[in-house]
Amino acid sequence: MDTTTRSSSESSQNSEQGLLNSYEKSEGHPRYATRKIRRAPWGVILPWSLCVVLLVAIVVQARIIRIRSATPSTSFWGTRELEIVKREVAPNKKVVRFTGGLRYNSSKQLYREIDRTVPDYTGKPTEEITAAWHDLITTTDIFLTKAEIEEIIANGGTFANLPHKDDVLYTDPFVGLYQAVPTVFHDLHCLDKVRRGIYLDYYSEDDTEIFWPHIEHCLDTIRQSIMCHADMTPIPEAYTDFKPSGHLEPIFQIEHTCRDFEAIQKWAKGRDALDEKVWRKNAERLKLDTKN
Ligand SMILES: *[C@@H]1O[C@H](CO)[C@@H](O)[C@H](O)[C@H]1NC(C)=O
Repeated sequence: MDTTTRSSSESSQNSEQGLLNSYEKSEGHPRYATRKIRRAPWGVILPWSLCVVLLVAIVVQARIIRIRSATPSTSFWGTRELEIVKREVAPNKKVVRFTGGLRYNSSKQLYREIDRTVPDYTGKPTEEITAAWHDLITTTDIFLTKAEIEEIIANGGTFANLPHKDDVLYTDPFVGLYQAVPTVFHDLHCLDKVRRGIYLDYYSEDDTEIFWPHIEHCLDTIRQSIMCHADMTPIPEAYTDFKPSGHLEPIFQIEHTCRDFEAIQKWAKGRDALDEKVWRKNAERLKLDTKN
């Protein structure tokens, strides 16, 4: 906002100076000198200069708007997202074709189309599936420095407006850094929780007294995240003769424009506050970066 007003008033000042200059020059010309005596010049010049000033202001404003919308970092990230991510992760989108369609085959049986080129995250639980989810979730907790928390508060972000007024932010007792959970990894953790809940016999360690509140929290969180992102990519619908009821079948393996999940995952791993193998190293590096 500040820059807009500053630059447009700056340019209107410049154009005003430009207009005055050319008017002063014309004073010396004998032809205009006589005219000037007969007419009150300001009655003509003032409305015209105002017009030009306004025109210049409009052009400048339009250019600023165009520059803003062309800058990906401002439209790519939401205002509530981590400032440090906006600086350290390139705002790249990529096209991803979704996998795991659902179709009827010629014997009118519903089956899931499995793409063997990507890890499978569903189906009857196996060690591979459990490990695939573990890799996907990456981490639930990342380290944030005091400076990063203060920057967010200064910008009126998440930590400036906590719902429970008495809450005090946690710092790690060993390294003194703050911790937070990037929503995407929490969402994935939640989806995995619900999946594990379906196969509770296999994941019997999840069968505790917190099972239902946890599952219900997770379902509600996933609902809100999906609504928040509101992907409007159309899923086409085609004719089918194989469906027992009706002839309409959605085609799920279509391309979506997505954030670069792998880039975000890599960044988060560098701040992982949980993984025994990396958390100390991550903390030391972050503390060194802050001192510089
Ligand atoms: C259709 O799918 C069912 C269930 O997966 C399977 O048993 C059947 O052999 C399939 N039929 C054809 C023609 O592919």
